[in-house]
Amino acid sequence: MQVNGKAYRTIWFENNIVKIIDQTKLPHQFIIKDLKTIKDSINAIKTMEVRGAPLIGATAAYGLVLSIIEKNDQSFLKRSSKDLIASRPTAINLKWAVDRMMKKLSGLNSNEALKIALEEAKAIVEEDVTFCKNIGVNGLKIIEEIAIKKKDTVNILTHCNAGWLATIDWGTATSPIYHAHQKGIKVHVWVDETRPRNQGANLTSYELNEEGIPNKIITDNAGGILMQRGQVDMCIVGTDRTLSNGDVCNKIGTYLKALAAKDNNVPFYVALPSSTIDWSIKDQKQIPIEERSSEELSHVEGVDENNEIKKVRIYPQKSKSLNLAFDVTPAKLVTGLITEKGICEASEKGLKELFK
Ligand code: MRU
Repeated sequence: MQVNGKAYRTIWFENNIVKIIDQTKLPHQFIIKDLKTIKDSINAIKTMEVRGAPLIGATAAYGLVLSIIEKNDQSFLKRSSKDLIASRPTAINLKWAVDRMMKKLSGLNSNEALKIALEEAKAIVEEDVTFCKNIGVNGLKIIEEIAIKKKDTVNILTHCNAGWLATIDWGTATSPIYHAHQKGIKVHVWVDETRPRNQGANLTSYELNEEGIPNKIITDNAGGILMQRGQVDMCIVGTDRTLSNGDVCNKIGTYLKALAAKDNNVPFYVALPSSTIDWSIKDQKQIPIEERSSEELSHVEGVDENNEIKKVRIYPQKSKSLNLAFDVTPAKLVTGLITEKGICEASEKGLKELFK
């Protein structure tokens, strides 16, 4: 998608270097960063220079390419894959991408390893672009139906950033929005700020602005009253791990939005590529919920009058805090799952019908 009128992807490979957009600096600075080693890749995922389930999967895939460039050795590769999987625990795309790469690379101690690793990483990236595009084509139908009925602007609420910055291109939750906008349908997006890291305010609003899509940032607690007032026509969010029973793990606060949506008869959709489905566990209690540093709560970052990024403390030094990064929305609160293969019910039956 566009930044200053120029088309970008979030990650690419050039001269044996992985290029990323450093998302910790957005929206204040647009910086392209080089990842040269497996350590750089792990650090980029941990510090959230790259984030969002599909993008951390792609970064892990390229991380293994860098690992081979560094040292073409099976035990080093195994260590790299373990460290990558441990770098962030909740988004299943990370493990999915590493497992997919290792399936091709395990036992392959030859000059071919680099070529095969690069081919597979590129395939993961291209597949994600196609899947996200198809999510948009499928989700567009829902927005179109609302627009025809309403004969007015469609107001869509989203949480966190499940935009192109969280994927390679298009995004998941934003892809139907981009497709609707390109078709001339009037859309307006309510962007949940998404404390503590403000992915909504910093990233979703930024990318929607760049594409010329009207949007307004709201506090995380404002969605309820907007839904009560009839100012939200639908919600679309992304997911870090969707279980085969349709339970959806996503950024902390998603569950509360789904509860408010249910109470106000607002359709609540979740957009995801199939790489985000965890077929292996059936109980949401088994999902590892990432707990991040309490500094993300106690400090905020922004720019001063000289446009320099500054970090300030906002809590009493003595106060303790708990920073859970994700929650789980039960399938019964989800109107439907928008996938690359179509829209289905959030249930084992629904998912199996699409993904036999
Ligand atoms: O902690 P983050 O910023 O990586 O969390 C991202 C989300 O929760 C997204 O909604 C999810 O990864 C889906 S991205 C298409």
